[in-house]
Amino acid sequence: MTEQPKYIIFYGPPGCGKGSQARKISALLNIGHQSSGSLLRGEIANETEIGLNIKETLEEGKLVSNEIVNKVIKRAMLAEKFKTGILFDGYPRTLLQSKSLTEMVNEIEGNLVSLIWIDVPDNVLKKRILGRRTHRKSGRIYNIYFNPPKVEMKDDITGEPLTLRKDDTKEVLNRRLNIYHKEDNEILDYYRQMNKLIHIDGTLSIDETHKAIKSELTKFGIEF
Ligand code: AP5
Ligand code: MG
Repeated sequence: MTEQPKYIIFYGPPGCGKGSQARKISALLNIGHQSSGSLLRGEIANETEIGLNIKETLEEGKLVSNEIVNKVIKRAMLAEKFKTGILFDGYPRTLLQSKSLTEMVNEIEGNLVSLIWIDVPDNVLKKRILGRRTHRKSGRIYNIYFNPPKVEMKDDITGEPLTLRKDDTKEVLNRRLNIYHKEDNEILDYYRQMNKLIHIDGTLSIDETHKAIKSELTKFGIEF
């Protein structure tokens, strides 16, 4: 019998470490990592119809419509490379998306394991966002203050240049935070009521946070 695909959500404010942590967990499990933000930035880079429609929305730190997001997520869920499941990063981020995800997982008889809430207060996030540097092709994430590359502005593995995200400015961060706090309590309640909520202190170091996530996931039947 083939195993049920597993879905785990990494949730939290901009810069809390969703991408950093989902990458580390994905390296240990046979489950792929999908960042909704990267998926949408990919549409923009490829100048697809969706990409042209959402370019400004992302740059301004506003939410893309539930309809577009659900469409690209559904496509990913049906892709061969995600047949064992997905570690979601940045999706869902509205109550409506949360409910759509539950429906989609039920439709394909998958296992919605849990939502990992990486809890970081707003005042800690500024340095993380403004210090972030990314290697676009691989998705490797650095930080000039907390996790610097070996050579300034160069990827450790390929030596290629690192980039800054257009939405990583002080002004846009404030908007992203406001949008996050509009629905965070409702979303957390939704998963709490399903007994699927994992609360993680995201102010610890990247490695300590990783250990805490691993330990909590084992309680939900995930074996490392
Ligand atoms: P998205 O790409 O998801 O951005 P975000 O939610 O704002 O989150 P970030 O990627 O900024 O942060 P992260 O939590 O991944 O942190 P990271 O690991 O990089 O979305 C972008 C946009 O796309 C949205 O604004 C919206 O327009 C659109 N969008 C996406 N999904 C959508 C959806 N579902 N619906 C509608 N619209 C959607 O870490 C950050 C930095 O901190 C790094 O430099 C890292 O090295 C450092 N760091 C990480 N952990 C630690 C630690 N423990 N200690 C010290 N430093 C750390
Ligand atoms: Mg991210």
